Amino acid sequence: MTILKTSVLGIEFENPFLLASAPPTAKIESIDKAFSLGWGGAVLKTITPDDLEMIEASTRYASWRSGAKVCGFENIEMLSHLTIQEWLDGIKYLKQKYPTKVQIASIMAPVVKEEWQKMVKTFNHSGADAFELNFSCPHGMPEKGIGMAIGTHADLSAEITKWVKEVAEIPVFVKLSPNVTNIVEIAKAVEDAGADGLAAINTVQSLMGIDLESFEPLPKVNGKSTFGGYSGMAVKPIGLRCVAQLRQHSKLPILGMGGISTWSDAAEYMTVGADVVQVCTEVMINGYGVIKSMTKGLGDYLIGKGFNSPAELRDKAIANLAEHKNLYKKQQVYPDIDADKCVRCGKCVMICDESEYSALSLENGKIEVNRDKCIGCSLCSHVCPMSAISMKK
Ligand SMILES: Cc1cc2nc3c(=O)[nH]c(=O)nc-3n(C[C@H](O)[C@H](O)[C@H](O)COP(=O)(O)O)c2cc1C
Repeated sequence: MTILKTSVLGIEFENPFLLASAPPTAKIESIDKAFSLGWGGAVLKTITPDDLEMIEASTRYASWRSGAKVCGFENIEMLSHLTIQEWLDGIKYLKQKYPTKVQIASIMAPVVKEEWQKMVKTFNHSGADAFELNFSCPHGMPEKGIGMAIGTHADLSAEITKWVKEVAEIPVFVKLSPNVTNIVEIAKAVEDAGADGLAAINTVQSLMGIDLESFEPLPKVNGKSTFGGYSGMAVKPIGLRCVAQLRQHSKLPILGMGGISTWSDAAEYMTVGADVVQVCTEVMINGYGVIKSMTKGLGDYLIGKGFNSPAELRDKAIANLAEHKNLYKKQQVYPDIDADKCVRCGKCVMICDESEYSALSLENGKIEVNRDKCIGCSLCSHVCPMSAISMKK
């Protein structure tokens, strides 16, 4: 679909869907399969110096489910287990087989200038199209002083970006952590240090749950656990907020991610600033094949809206984000109850009564709205089990 073509910093993407750095990009054979199925590119599982110890825990995943559906996913996984030579061979092989697919080398190293610069020089001419600096892994690596231990400090993030930019010969994206008070502060620091682009978000630091029989936290690793990284559908609102804040304060290209599971999630990310998007958890749960509905859905949407490329969708919603004080507050909306869908369970009446306004009542088998009491908060529409309430002017 030519309508999906886009370019960022001179890198041509046949479509704006990339695999994020994670298990789906951990081995060459699987990236090969993903490319054959239609992914526009891949950010390789984070590559580190060969002598950096990387021992995995078992288990390393926990999930928050609604029925069979995985809504949120936590991992305590470390980084790539391939050697640098295996990556160099793999990138070259993939580039030869798929010259139009974008490969971004995600890298991480101890906080030593020579170590970062050595990684960059090693991959400069590997065939990779760009670097993504992993300053944001929230587990395991911070204990070694890297990952999120870098990305939560503006000065350190800027310093390492400068080291990388001194020797990088391809564009450098910095992957930011949502686990900070102000993501814009870190973004500004790396932008001032010369970063060519931003990537956000990495996973959200989390604790999935506790087994109340044994008091073991999840995921269980021989009875113990550690704080992990949360991803999947549940983190989309956090990722969307972070990307929107980055775009409000920066013109740099953004690789947007966090909870993208459909083409429309991707489109939303673009409207708040993402140039292209990355997907991880959705692929871990449903496989590479999801790319088909993502490309088809986004292509059809762009055509329907009269856009010629994903670039024309970029930033479309940014002007509609305002400070709370500047929201128009003289307009009131009211619940409109679809009598055919409503089963008169009274839940909306109870919740409204217990949540301040007591504006709803069940009278003669019908939900009545007292317009003098209703303030149009919309809570009733969210709790209705039949989706029978919509808010109207
Ligand atoms: C199991 C797992 C491993 C991951 N490993 C990496 C990694 O090596 N490097 C990295 O930058 N991000 C890593 N991530 C984070 C993802 O690239 C992505 O930023 C995050 O999962 C949010 O996207 P999603 O909601 O689509 O999964 C990992 C995520 C998961 C779930």
